[in-house]
Amino acid sequence: MSPMRPTLRDILAKSTRYLTEKNVDSPRLSAELVIAHALGLNRLDLFLDLDKPMSEPELVRIRPILARRGTGEPIAYILGRREFYGLDFHVTPEVLIPRPDTELGVELALKLFDREQAFCFADVGTGSGALCVTLLKMFPHALAMATDISSGALNVATGNLRRHGVDHRCLRTTGDLLQHVKGRSLELIVANLPYIGEKEAKLLSREVVAFEPRRALFGGFEGDELFHPLLRNAQEVLVNGGFVLLEVGTSQAKGLCDRIRDMSPRWTDIAIHKDLAGHERYVQARLRW
Ligand SMILES: C[S@@+](CC[C@H](N)C(=O)[O-])C[C@H]1O[C@@H](n2cnc3c(N)ncnc32)[C@H](O)[C@@H]1O
Repeated sequence: MSPMRPTLRDILAKSTRYLTEKNVDSPRLSAELVIAHALGLNRLDLFLDLDKPMSEPELVRIRPILARRGTGEPIAYILGRREFYGLDFHVTPEVLIPRPDTELGVELALKLFDREQAFCFADVGTGSGALCVTLLKMFPHALAMATDISSGALNVATGNLRRHGVDHRCLRTTGDLLQHVKGRSLELIVANLPYIGEKEAKLLSREVVAFEPRRALFGGFEGDELFHPLLRNAQEVLVNGGFVLLEVGTSQAKGLCDRIRDMSPRWTDIAIHKDLAGHERYVQARLRW
């Protein structure tokens, strides 16, 4: 008599135990996502078939993916995708996995500009292109420039701009901050630049430090080193009345506002915005000249 085959329910429980022992974040959810991915199903489809006996070829598909997750590799890199503002983004280890906190940048832009308005913006440190693509989708008449210091990241962003059908409205450049932008052409600059301090690296989750690109995480020893050069660039390229929306670390917002005030009286309407968790997450300012 052939031995009883394990059911999907058994494999889910066993995989969850394995990931718990490996100390990965969200072991149950990870197990569900890994198994669904290996079987080519949606996560919710798993629950329709929990008593289904698993075949050996199915188990063979699950094992290597589960082992990757067991090393702490983020689920988004394993699946090659992450949702941001309801849109699907391709992600690779060349780019930061877009975070829900960053969606606040989209919400703020939606308050500053009319949906039908034609304007130009730059997304500095675009990574996967999450902010840039989403803003181009939200503002069908806007034009964008996406910059990143990493050409690998810019390739991923280009793919995402294409898959969402907005690449014809976006120039891409590899380089430091806004070094390739000349003249006063931008109504808005959005930037989720790296802002974690190298001095804080030990406090980060192992899954972040070991797998996400260092250049996407650390802004220098303190973390806030890129803000000042970016604002200097911004002063040269924003139109009169143009805005910056800068994502910051939770303890950086007030200090950054003071620095903007000290920088020039031309910066006005300086404000801090909190994310859904109540953390000070975005600094907004407007340039008048
Ligand atoms: C925190 S990630 C954010 C990625 C994306 N904007 C998002 O919100 O998911 C920061 C990005 O800035 C890029 N970057 C770092 N230093 C830069 C610089 N000096 N100029 C331009 N881009 C930079 C990194 O390569 C990385 O892609």
